[in-house]
Amino acid sequence: MTINPVFTDATPIAAIDAERQFLDDVLAGLSAPQKFLSAKYFYDAAGSDLFEAITRQPEYYPTRTELGILDAQGAAIAATLPARANLVELGSGSTVKVRRLMVHRPDLAAYVPVDVSESFLRSEAEALARDFPNLTITPVAADFTRAFTLPAGLSDGPVAGFFPGSTIGNFEPPQATRLLAHFGRVLGAGATLIIGVDLVKEKAVLDAAYDDAAGVTAAFNRNLLVRMRSELGAEVDLDAFAHRAFFNPEASRIEMHLVSLKAQTIRIADRDIAFAEGETIHTENSYKYTVERFRALAAEAGWRAEAVWTDPGRLFSIHALRRS
Ligand code: AVJ
Repeated sequence: MTINPVFTDATPIAAIDAERQFLDDVLAGLSAPQKFLSAKYFYDAAGSDLFEAITRQPEYYPTRTELGILDAQGAAIAATLPARANLVELGSGSTVKVRRLMVHRPDLAAYVPVDVSESFLRSEAEALARDFPNLTITPVAADFTRAFTLPAGLSDGPVAGFFPGSTIGNFEPPQATRLLAHFGRVLGAGATLIIGVDLVKEKAVLDAAYDDAAGVTAAFNRNLLVRMRSELGAEVDLDAFAHRAFFNPEASRIEMHLVSLKAQTIRIADRDIAFAEGETIHTENSYKYTVERFRALAAEAGWRAEAVWTDPGRLFSIHALRRS
């Protein structure tokens, strides 16, 4: 008699935990008076590709503008790094931005990319090693919002952080302060932080950046519903929800929502979730700062403003902060 193993298609424990967490968060978020979902769920493989596509849309200025500042001012920005620094990139993803600092600082002691995706870390580190053969690269697989320790064996040299992309804008201001204080603790006394922060600007420009004509941001937003269907078996009609994004000037943030186009019920894990016509799921906030307001927030977290660079249109800012 032969026994056929049944393990071949088994889902790894980590994936089961992640799915459970997604379900718990969806049920909790859709039970709140203002329904909401965490923006972190945008970024499965399809969502990450959609975000990449967003960055190429003509209306979405942040990525292109930040790269432009790094191209034009990279030497001055890199000059704020202390000699022989260990450069820690928080939530590294792709290395296109940090390369624009590295070219000016061959004296870096080490580059420490921190990211949750181990496979992405590995492929990016390999590509970087080919282009910067003398650079020590020490990837850390970790969630940068949580406690993590810098790798043992880093030089005793000074530590600097790099946090581009205006990711800080996804956090509520009190949480953003807490995150910056957390970076201060992880990076240590005397650390430098180079951080990209999107600026407040005309509402029409902001609204368009989060509602591009090609509908890529709409697809990115609705990918949450796609994930609920495919991963949680949710019964939900994708065409019954629309993308809505707008700048809320009182809160100084972009809000993204999924709007229910009719009174309807969606079914997830044996639970019925009712929507009134026009009711929304709040899916993302993207806070916009003035230079002064961001400096005040950083100061609360123990960071002193050292310098700031913007593009000629003052769309985006890159700050150099020092831990006071
Ligand atoms: C990756 C958080 C910087 O807020 O601009 C882009 C995400 N959402 N379009 C941003 C996003 C919709 C993006 N960040």
